[in-house]
Amino acid sequence: MNYQVIVPAAGSGKRMGAGMNKQFIELNEIPVIIHTLKVFESHQLCTGIILVINEQEREIFNGLITAYQLSKVVALVSGGVERQMSVYNGLLAVKGSEYVLVHDGARPFITHSQINNLLNEAIISGAATLAVPVKDTIKRVKNNQVVDTIERESVWSIQTPQAFLISNIIQAHKLAIEGNYLGTDDASLLERIGKPVKIVMGDYRNIKLTTPEDLLVAKAFIESASF
Ligand code: CTP
Ligand code: MG
Repeated sequence: MNYQVIVPAAGSGKRMGAGMNKQFIELNEIPVIIHTLKVFESHQLCTGIILVINEQEREIFNGLITAYQLSKVVALVSGGVERQMSVYNGLLAVKGSEYVLVHDGARPFITHSQINNLLNEAIISGAATLAVPVKDTIKRVKNNQVVDTIERESVWSIQTPQAFLISNIIQAHKLAIEGNYLGTDDASLLERIGKPVKIVMGDYRNIKLTTPEDLLVAKAFIESASF
């Protein structure tokens, strides 16, 4: 099934603390965002990439798209203050596609086989996300005091891409705006209106580059060249 992908890349990377948008950090002399975009550029079922950017970085993104000959980037859309708003702006630019994927620009180790697994589930269920079981013990905490321990088998770390029927995810975003709801991913917007989201087993290597130590791990993945 063909799809378009929205890649939110309009963040400022505060937690990375690199003094710039973390997606311009280079791994093997290639910016993180290019690693990410190349995976979709070379995926046959992807018919268009909608890149969501900070307006002040438009020139930089345009330059990179030209330099790396990314022919599938069909739109460069302005981002919002929060990730959710950036994705919503991207959704409005999707044209002629029944399925849409949303994938963080800062998650460069995604692979074709994971995307294919996700798409297969989305076609059956309408909405799906990659995820991996958590490895740590997870406890709920309030005021530095443990409240309780969550049964580990029921807790998964949610990744991207997430795949949706375009009509469903647009409706979920609109209702979230109406209800002043702000989620940290797009699946949560469907959950709150009672629409099912399926889990597809992802890969522990599909990390989001969030804090400085994630870069050390990313460099090790690149060097092992087996992600
Ligand atoms: N993002 C976006 N628009 C925003 C915020 C985030 O498009 N207003 C994008 C980021 O560029 C990133 C992805 O959403 O690719 C995941 O967000 P996150 O890891 O939180 O990135 P940042 O918001 O840049 O980082 P931080 O929260 O540490 O500032
Ligand atoms: Mg953020």
